[in-house]
Amino acid sequence: MFLTKEEEKLLERGDGVSKCMEILVALGEIFGAERLIPIKHSHISGVSYQNIGDEGLEWLKGLNVNFAVKTTINPAGMDLDRWSEMGIDGSFAKKQIEILNIFKKMGAELTLTCTPYYIYKPSIGEHLAWSESSAVIYANSVLGARTNRESGISALASAVIGKTPYYGLHIKENRAPNVLVKVECDFDPAILGYKIGSEIDGIPIFKFNRKLSDDELKALGASLASTGNIAIFHVVEQTPEWDHFEIPSEKIVVDELEVELDCGPDAITLGCPHLSKNELMRIYDLVRRFDGKAKKIFWIFTSRKVYDEMRDVVEFLESRGIRVFRDTCMVVSPATERFECVMTNSGKALTYLPKLRGVKVVYGTLEECVRKAFLG
Ligand code: F3S
Repeated sequence: MFLTKEEEKLLERGDGVSKCMEILVALGEIFGAERLIPIKHSHISGVSYQNIGDEGLEWLKGLNVNFAVKTTINPAGMDLDRWSEMGIDGSFAKKQIEILNIFKKMGAELTLTCTPYYIYKPSIGEHLAWSESSAVIYANSVLGARTNRESGISALASAVIGKTPYYGLHIKENRAPNVLVKVECDFDPAILGYKIGSEIDGIPIFKFNRKLSDDELKALGASLASTGNIAIFHVVEQTPEWDHFEIPSEKIVVDELEVELDCGPDAITLGCPHLSKNELMRIYDLVRRFDGKAKKIFWIFTSRKVYDEMRDVVEFLESRGIRVFRDTCMVVSPATERFECVMTNSGKALTYLPKLRGVKVVYGTLEECVRKAFLG
């Protein structure tokens, strides 16, 4: 990979910056990148103490670097204010806060959300280095920005250098679809992505019989990226780059979608990915149809930004027995491990709750989840 003189010098410093350059150069060489390109924004995932551990914490401490570009952070293992209410113990909380303070010192904004695009919306064609598969697929598909599916480490390295290797989805022709997915039945986008993500090898372009909302595109992308190695999709007549390429001849037709999961939920969770303002409003409208407090544990997750902008709604939901948590989620927090079976509307949570938290899952639409919580 070609490096400018300045970039070569960064490699030779022998400090944390050099380590970050080494990571980017290794990545670029593996994927055949010609050079590095500047990025505007990095988003770092994998920041839970459970994920980083003591070894990772020591590595982070020793790095001693500053971020060169805007850098945001994915959810951590707990709500920073309400961790004890989640059942997180003090020693975990102490380590988690230590990790976040290191990121803050490096210059990150402690956004602690997987929806960084609600805080800073990248423009079409903008180059990013984002980890968090649901945010990556949203940025590429719905916003038309450009990012590969980075790991937490490569996103961190890019944040320090302010650059990323130029390969993969940064290059226009690599964003072309190779399979048309025609959906002919009624569908929930989260379940569509959950069911067909693993069947797709490459980049799908969907043809739907209706227009999807941004929240539905978010749910579709998060599910696709969880069951498949997918970082971009297109939707005919909807997403920004759908008509920049030819429609592929290979075709999949979806005419029925069934989910076979079943268990009796002891908790209901919503907000994977983190809830938008619209989604929070939908929950509010549904909850108002029921009397009294939720009969089951009902946890929902959103960003601090959405939480702060929707204080009245949050207070109402809390008064009805729902817990509205920030900074974390049902998948990255070990708090969910105490449940036997969780009901959720998220295809990504259906994929990862059993794998990472060892809990059984059952699917319900947003409406079904609220109903289950209040009617039992
Ligand atoms: Fe976000 Fe957690 Fe789901 S990070 S996409 S809410 S697994």
